[in-house]
Amino acid sequence: MPSWDLLITDAKLATLRPGAAAGDDPWGTVENAALAVADGRIAWLGPAAGLPSGDAAERWSAEGRWLTPALIDCHTHLLFGGDRAAEFEQRLAGASYAEIARAGGGIMSTVRATRAASDEDLLGGASRRLAALCRDGVTTVEIKSGYGLDLDTELRMLRLARRAGGAAGLRVRPTCLGAHALPADFDGDADAYIDFVCDTVLPAVAEENLADAVDAYCESIAFTPAQVARVFERARELGLPVRLHADQLSDCGGAALAARYGALSADHVEYSNDAGIAALAQAGSVAVLLPGAFVMLREETRPPVAALRAAGVPIALATDCNPGTSPVVSLLAMLPIAAAQFRLTPAECLAGVTRNAARVLGLADELGTLEAGKRADLAAWDVGHPRELAYWLGAQPLAALFRGGRRLEI
Ligand code: NIG
Ligand code: FE
Repeated sequence: MPSWDLLITDAKLATLRPGAAAGDDPWGTVENAALAVADGRIAWLGPAAGLPSGDAAERWSAEGRWLTPALIDCHTHLLFGGDRAAEFEQRLAGASYAEIARAGGGIMSTVRATRAASDEDLLGGASRRLAALCRDGVTTVEIKSGYGLDLDTELRMLRLARRAGGAAGLRVRPTCLGAHALPADFDGDADAYIDFVCDTVLPAVAEENLADAVDAYCESIAFTPAQVARVFERARELGLPVRLHADQLSDCGGAALAARYGALSADHVEYSNDAGIAALAQAGSVAVLLPGAFVMLREETRPPVAALRAAGVPIALATDCNPGTSPVVSLLAMLPIAAAQFRLTPAECLAGVTRNAARVLGLADELGTLEAGKRADLAAWDVGHPRELAYWLGAQPLAALFRGGRRLEI
């Protein structure tokens, strides 16, 4: 007879299992369901009528609520010093993001604030933002460096990212974004800075095992495709998977570049072209859409959702939480905005913060769907149907959250 740590009864499941995406029911619905957890993983799930008899150390009735995989925020820059609310005011008055960046503001202003901040300040801000994400049903968060741009601060950010996750009880996946902007210390010599990232930062990150992936920013105000390619070559030598801030403000061939290196994801992709989209499909890369940055930058060019869908590129959604382009600390809020602005279906929205987000973080075997063998990271919701998660804005519908079968305080 099986013995379980937790048995959840009287639930409706939206499993989001991969087959469901292609079938008639994109939610992977199981009504009148039970779900058993052993050793932090889903040991059994299905219609309660088929539940084998077993012993459960603990039982929890969902009282008819919907259970989904816990949410995953697969693209954030949520560890930083200061804020850029004054720059937002400047943008509202007519200045562009690129103009502010060229004048030494933008990412560089956060770099200055982050270098100057104490560990306690950085952890305090990150912890508040992680707690807000947790109240939205998030148990896994990616956090990028990229506001250090010197060896010490880049490494410090990555170490603090893991610490902030530990303190919040969440799983954090740190990403090294050394190639985010050109720091003033390099006197305009972007190639010399890329040498420094490749020869000094990435090897140190790999040596201390501080990041799970390497990201870069390919844009006219950041790095060229050739410079990004050098970073990706080095990442490959060090055995680190890559991702790219691609085609956010212009078509730089970012999608094709990401695909050429088998990137886990190409992110933003507002301006990606058809050849780039075909290359992403071929490479199995995920397109990560970031509605927060789109809205807060008052962008008008939408990501090519119909083309991504037609090509079979999986789509994820994330907050992009950062002080410049996306001061967003709610992952749930991204769902109705992506539905209304990008015309994602509600089921695509939920898959974008569960199944496809897990894939972006290289965790598809562990998280992102409700299937036997996966980690028991579960969210229970006070909604009549999960489509409401892409409908209400600011409703706080989370009823309970489990990480590895353990209930988290929310
Ligand atoms: O994802 N585009 C580059 N990186 C961030 C913005 C970071 C910042 O402005 O501080 C983004 O939008
Ligand atoms: Fe970003």
